[in-house]
Amino acid sequence: MSKVRVALAGIGNCSSALLQGTRYYRAQDEATGLLSYSLGGITPSDIEFVTAFDVDAGKVGKDLSEAIFCGLNNTPKFCDVEETGVRVKRGPLLDGLGKYLSRVIKPSGSPEVDVAKELKDSGAEILVNYLPVGSTKAVQWYAEQALKAGVAFINAMPVFIASNEPWAGRFEQAGLPVAGDDVMSQIGATVLHKTLIKLLHDRGAKVDETYQLNIGGDTDFLNMLEEQRLVDKRESKTSAVRAMTPYPVPTRIGPSDYVDFLKNDKVCYIWVKGRYFGNTPVTIEAKLHVVDAPDSGGVMIDAIRGTKIALDRGVSGQLTSLSSYCFKHPPVQLPYDEAKRRFLAFVDGKAER
Ligand SMILES: NC(=O)c1ccc[n+]([C@@H]2O[C@H](COP(=O)([O-])OP(=O)(O)OC[C@H]3O[C@@H](n4cnc5c(N)ncnc54)[C@H](O)[C@@H]3O)[C@@H](O)[C@H]2O)c1
Repeated sequence: MSKVRVALAGIGNCSSALLQGTRYYRAQDEATGLLSYSLGGITPSDIEFVTAFDVDAGKVGKDLSEAIFCGLNNTPKFCDVEETGVRVKRGPLLDGLGKYLSRVIKPSGSPEVDVAKELKDSGAEILVNYLPVGSTKAVQWYAEQALKAGVAFINAMPVFIASNEPWAGRFEQAGLPVAGDDVMSQIGATVLHKTLIKLLHDRGAKVDETYQLNIGGDTDFLNMLEEQRLVDKRESKTSAVRAMTPYPVPTRIGPSDYVDFLKNDKVCYIWVKGRYFGNTPVTIEAKLHVVDAPDSGGVMIDAIRGTKIALDRGVSGQLTSLSSYCFKHPPVQLPYDEAKRRFLAFVDGKAER
């Protein structure tokens, strides 16, 4: 199998976990934690990072293998990464750093590169966007560069591109696949919350109210203290849970606070209130404690593999089953098991997208 040539925008904790993961899963006997070691004949170590962009003075100019452990990145190291030969390039800042991040991240003084040209020159096939929540202008700018360069786009965060018809239409017209939006972690708050709500509904109970509170201590959570940047994040997380019942449920979901000593650990509290037989009340309370970035790494490895399969088959526009399986705010919201079934049918060539 030929390599999958990937570009990264935003060399934060998620890029760190993803790059480490492609090195960690080099041998089949280490496949624990993956959906499957080989998907459509592609293994994690077939993913090659060919260029990378950030704005942080502590990361720009460094080899990717070093940059992922620099700046304020604080996800644990679980695998050594040898030098990649890829230096992090200075992208345009635009609205990438909000009120809180601009206090702690110093933008690099290096000149900005021509991102579309760099994408082309590097031979990238797919651009993965890992910018901070609320970077609407910057994300749209990177999506534009992908279109210019003829590169597929995977959007890991909640500025809506794949689930936005006009944007997705532009990728379709350009003959390029687009997947997203906002990666749904492997064992994360969204998939757990969706599953609990669906369980109650499937078992004939009525869900009356629910909330989900999340705290963490990384730059993602620091940035999300800024409520104005959160509108799409709340919508993304809420829409995923809302889709599990055919009736509206009073729901409050979102990032709730920044607790610096948690570092890249994330703690989530889910509360559900409902009624079952004879109007009898039931409540469920769940607490989930995970390390956030590795929780998205395996899912992104699957999203990259699925997008490569689409590229090879000439499929363009919204990758619907892949997005329903890997993302919180896809073009089509589905229960997790149905999304997985449709995605695997696509991988096996039994469904068009
Ligand atoms: N499990 C997860 O961690 C998870 C799940 C779902 C979504 N996400 C989303 O993925 C995104 C990345 O998460 P993260 O934990 O890696 O965040 P992070 O804060 O660790 O990294 C963001 C990086 O983007 C860089 N950046 C800012 N503006 C930029 C610009 N204009 N151009 C290039 N780089 C720029 C920052 O310097 C930083 O290195 C976030 O939006 C997050 O909400 C993460």
